[in-house]
Amino acid sequence: MAVPGVGLLTRLHLCAQRRTRVQRPILRLLSCPGTVAEDLRRNEQPSGSVETGFEDKIPRKRFSEMQNERREQAQRTVLIRCPEKFSENKFLKYLSQHGPINNHFFYESFGLYAVVEFCRKESVGSLQNGARTPSMAMETAIPFRSRFLSLKLKNQTSEQSCIQSSNQLPPSNRKLFELLCYAESIDDQLNTLLKEFQLTEENTKLRYLTCSLIEDIAAAYFPDCVVRPFGSSVNTFGKLGCDLDMFLDLDETRNLSTHKTSGNFLMEFQVKNVPSERIATQKILSVIGECLDHFGPGCVGVQKILNARCPLVRFSHQASGFQCDLTTNNRIALTSSELLYIYGTLDSRVRALVFGIRCWARAHSLTSSIPGAWITNFSLTMMVIFFLQRRSPPILPTLDSLKTLADAEDKCIIEGNNCTFVRDLNRIKPSGNTETLELLLKEFFEYFGNFAFNKNSINIRQGREQNKPDSSPLYIQNPFETSLNISKNVSQSQLQKFVDLAQESAWILQQKDTDRLSVSSHQPWGLAAILLPSVPNRRSLTKKKRNRSANESIKNLLESLKSNRTANFTETNEKRTISTQT
Ligand code: GTP
Ligand code: MG
Repeated sequence: MAVPGVGLLTRLHLCAQRRTRVQRPILRLLSCPGTVAEDLRRNEQPSGSVETGFEDKIPRKRFSEMQNERREQAQRTVLIRCPEKFSENKFLKYLSQHGPINNHFFYESFGLYAVVEFCRKESVGSLQNGARTPSMAMETAIPFRSRFLSLKLKNQTSEQSCIQSSNQLPPSNRKLFELLCYAESIDDQLNTLLKEFQLTEENTKLRYLTCSLIEDIAAAYFPDCVVRPFGSSVNTFGKLGCDLDMFLDLDETRNLSTHKTSGNFLMEFQVKNVPSERIATQKILSVIGECLDHFGPGCVGVQKILNARCPLVRFSHQASGFQCDLTTNNRIALTSSELLYIYGTLDSRVRALVFGIRCWARAHSLTSSIPGAWITNFSLTMMVIFFLQRRSPPILPTLDSLKTLADAEDKCIIEGNNCTFVRDLNRIKPSGNTETLELLLKEFFEYFGNFAFNKNSINIRQGREQNKPDSSPLYIQNPFETSLNISKNVSQSQLQKFVDLAQESAWILQQKDTDRLSVSSHQPWGLAAILLPSVPNRRSLTKKKRNRSANESIKNLLESLKSNRTANFTETNEKRTISTQT
């Protein structure tokens, strides 16, 4: 394979722009490890502290605690569309009339927006009471009061200044490859990739705020509903630009009657009945979808996808730039997110490896934002978890062992499926495994490049391969609905593409000396080299390369026998292989 220079790297589609229809905000904060790459990033470092919310903290927060804290924070927060220039100090002073502000930040998303978190929830009501519905010359405004507001300037003052906003897109391909090429090791490269792509504190706040704004709209019908983010926004594996999966939780609405009964009587709401849970879900989502479409400020492109296996409403939230999928009656997915959160938080290598594999898969079009026969990010994450359970000693515990650590409080049955596992991270013993990320990355590709997909399935519950129960090309057991395969959609050709690329990447990563040569010549090496896009007939190229390298080996062996230098065979062989690569 030719190794192109950095100039060619813009061909890569590493950016996690899942649906280009959505207008993307450009807000990003960076944190810098102590490497050469640091210099490149330092210039971009804006002021303000950055916390991803997922760093190692002792004691580590439970998923439910983290969700509740963030939700409460979001309820005290407003989103304000701002003019391009104004006085930030005056703006904050003006808002402070309604109560003290805990924190705020600005970002751009085809316009400037402020996210302002008050210390008290009452301040939001006070601000709303002072706001008015705009009057329009040509159109008529629907008088809907929400926490999404607009700041208007009454008169142009001389104190206007440009507002400093931060950026929330991942780095450009060129920038990323520069960072990767200057890194010191593959471990450093994987950690750099993680730092550049992971959700920032601001991006996470914006995700919870968006859910909270949608919750306000749904609350018009279901006052006790909760809209919870799930999937990669909260499971520690979210990349900047990933979609926002939302779960409309109506459990409080359903259970209220049990709290409020006393004495000999029981009071029930008069309700409409429908023949099944699925029809109820479809009706609820249909109405909420209409409501978002007609009244939801900033909600555009609302699509009701009600006949899907899991009915959903898909829309773009323009102000935040998020592509949103709203579901209900999908509690198992929320539980899966909690499980992934635990796995992602247990060991710092997990997220770095998952990000590396997800980026690798995206760069080679193994994953796609369009539904189809491709592997999903969720399936890839399961594969990494499974691989880490198979290490010796294991880096991650099996789901069954997390179940044995559970206490009474953790007991959870959803639709007849046992979803019990320990929720308290501090009760899980850390792994004694000290393998490097470099080794894990290589061995991940080797492991799955040689996995017997034709007969075995992947099962994180037991952490061992099992016979496939059906003939699906790729079988990854759903951890909670154990009779289901989460990768049922994957075709044989997509699986083969994955296997070929895994083999090729394992081969590239084995070329240790290439790495060193490349560092000095600024060529992509290590992780950067395996992120390069596929070239046509890559598979046959790989085979040719392997054949060529085998021929070279024989030639070398003969030569070394001739010159009686057999002791150096391995080293010579490696060097010859490098020259065939470039
Ligand atoms: P992104 O690609 O970054 O959005 O990753 P994601 O994990 O958010 O994936 P996606 O948006 O496709 O799905 C959201 C969540 O739904 C996942 O995290 C899972 O919890 C759940 N989910 C997705 N696909 C499946 C599936 O095939 N089976 C099951 N049981 N759950 C799924
Ligand atoms: Mg998602």
